[in-house]
Amino acid sequence: MNPPPALFSLEGRNALVTGASRGIGRTIAEALAANGARVVCAARTIKDLEDLVETIRKAGGQAKALAMDVGDRDSLPAAAAAAEACFGPLDILVNNAGVNFREPLEEISGEHFDRILSINVEGMLFLTQAVARGMMARRSGKVINVGSITTGFGLSNLAVYSLTKGAVGQLTKALATELGRHNIQVNALCPGFIMTPMTNKLWSMPHMQEWGKRRIPLGRVATPADLIGSAVFLASAASDYVTGHSLFVDGGFTAGEPWPIPSGGGNVAPPGEIA
Ligand SMILES: NC(=O)c1ccc[n+]([C@@H]2O[C@H](COP(=O)([O-])OP(=O)(O)OC[C@H]3O[C@@H](n4cnc5c(N)ncnc54)[C@H](OP(=O)(O)O)[C@@H]3O)[C@@H](O)[C@H]2O)c1
Repeated sequence: MNPPPALFSLEGRNALVTGASRGIGRTIAEALAANGARVVCAARTIKDLEDLVETIRKAGGQAKALAMDVGDRDSLPAAAAAAEACFGPLDILVNNAGVNFREPLEEISGEHFDRILSINVEGMLFLTQAVARGMMARRSGKVINVGSITTGFGLSNLAVYSLTKGAVGQLTKALATELGRHNIQVNALCPGFIMTPMTNKLWSMPHMQEWGKRRIPLGRVATPADLIGSAVFLASAASDYVTGHSLFVDGGFTAGEPWPIPSGGGNVAPPGEIA
């Protein structure tokens, strides 16, 4: 009997991960490399990327650092070409770079609005456009767009961020329908509450931790490592018939919440009837 195909192996694949210098992107870059991919690690801060590349190489993987500003739309075709010059044509694109300003409606500035949209949506779309051209020609590719809980759920003081992450979900669906015939899978990976440099300050507040433990069905705020399995799945042959999907990795947060129903169900009507 032939051995089963290595469904989750990324051997021989080339990946580009944006926002790889820290947080979620860094962990995803390390995970793809650990599973065999050659990884182009992109962000604006080259020093942090070089540190990541060193870490990946010491662990036996292959990686290169690439300075890239996802918010600079006109630079993205050249940035995609530079990424392909590192190891060769890209098989996997992880659109992870993202920014957030948490502010109430009254305080949202045009400057912040433009900045969040340019990175979270515009950059994601135009980098995908640049990379997908080659994927279409080769009839193969995996695009992973990093969304959020707010891809499908409302949270206060996050109006602009939420509209960009909602857009990530819709962009993912639209591109999945368009690129499916080219054998390119496009999915969104939607993390829950993850402790990273973007959120560490928030989650160091005791009342936030208490709320998280109570509100998240799995009872804890996550770390980037909680996303590894899903990221490798969406990058690998294991997800070859999955496209247009938003995969929420949120400890059950968007599934709902336990409610304070009394033991016994709190029935006032006879058993079997709905109270
Ligand atoms: N942490 C969470 O709880 C959470 C939850 C849901 C979704 N997410 C999403 O997950 C992604 C990563 O978040 P994170 O928490 O890991 O954030 P983070 O710790 O702030 O890291 C953000 C990464 O994006 C890069 N970046 C920022 N602006 C960029 C630009 N213009 N061009 C290229 N790279 C840029 C940063 O590097 P440089 O500054 O060096 O460019 C850094 O590597 C984001 O899309 C975020 O919305 C996070």
